[in-house]
Amino acid sequence: MTVPFSGGDPPAAASEPTELALPTLARPGPSDDQLLDLIRHQPLPRHTAVIMDGNGRWARMRNLPRVAGHREGVKAAREAVRAAGRIGIQYLTLYAFSSENWTRPAAEVEFLMHLLQSSVDAELPGLMENNVRLRTLGDPVSLSAGVRASIERATRATEANTGLTLLIALNYGGRGELVRAVRALATRVARGELAPQTIAEAHIGEALDTAGIPDPDLLIRTSGEFRLSNFLLWQVAYTELLVLPTLWPDFASRDLYLAVADYQRRSRRFGGL
Ligand code: FPP
Repeated sequence: MTVPFSGGDPPAAASEPTELALPTLARPGPSDDQLLDLIRHQPLPRHTAVIMDGNGRWARMRNLPRVAGHREGVKAAREAVRAAGRIGIQYLTLYAFSSENWTRPAAEVEFLMHLLQSSVDAELPGLMENNVRLRTLGDPVSLSAGVRASIERATRATEANTGLTLLIALNYGGRGELVRAVRALATRVARGELAPQTIAEAHIGEALDTAGIPDPDLLIRTSGEFRLSNFLLWQVAYTELLVLPTLWPDFASRDLYLAVADYQRRSRRFGGL
């Protein structure tokens, strides 16, 4: 496994095993201010998406209940939002609850729903202060009336904000999103509004939850799993992927800065040369 992540250090010697690249995140490197200065002078990932994984493992390692990991996860999410805004990232998508997460024990699902609702309520003043616009991805239909009401309130309150757009994926699954998009397009075909042979990629993009939002440039997954887990399947066609060993509750603003610096070192070819 290689994660090309030197955190500002000189490139590893050719003889150094590539596995050593992972722990370099922890090595002392440039200060946060130096890092910020460095990344602000190069093209930023306009849209960064994050699979926040590892809350349960973080808690288990401390002999704490899983929910303690989720509580810490909220703090890490708050820090990531602040850091993304500080750098000037335009869109940050956080995978908060997948359509498959309903299969977790009922008590954990209930806790997560309550935590997400109370976090949205509690963070609203901070979102306003920081000019953050909130939107959600996913199918709201199976969410409780309380969760939906909190999201709708925060979405409406922040809709004129012009800074970072924070997208929370809630009851989201990439395949389910595509099914909903296909149904919407099929309805337009059945009504005679759209001819099947004219359907182009743009029609599909516009029928997705991410309509009007650029595809992610960078996708970060924490806790070391090399999986997409049904996240933004259509949108990540040319996204740069970064898997970090860090468990989500330990993810700090510096990790985001380092991730952006890593992204900026990549050469994106979009299938060309
Ligand atoms: C992943 O860890 C975490 C989740 C699926 C839960 C949701 C995320 C949070 C509560 C963070 C806060 C987010 C917002 C937007 C307020 P896991 O439970 O899959 O961990 P494990 O793989 O170690 O068991």
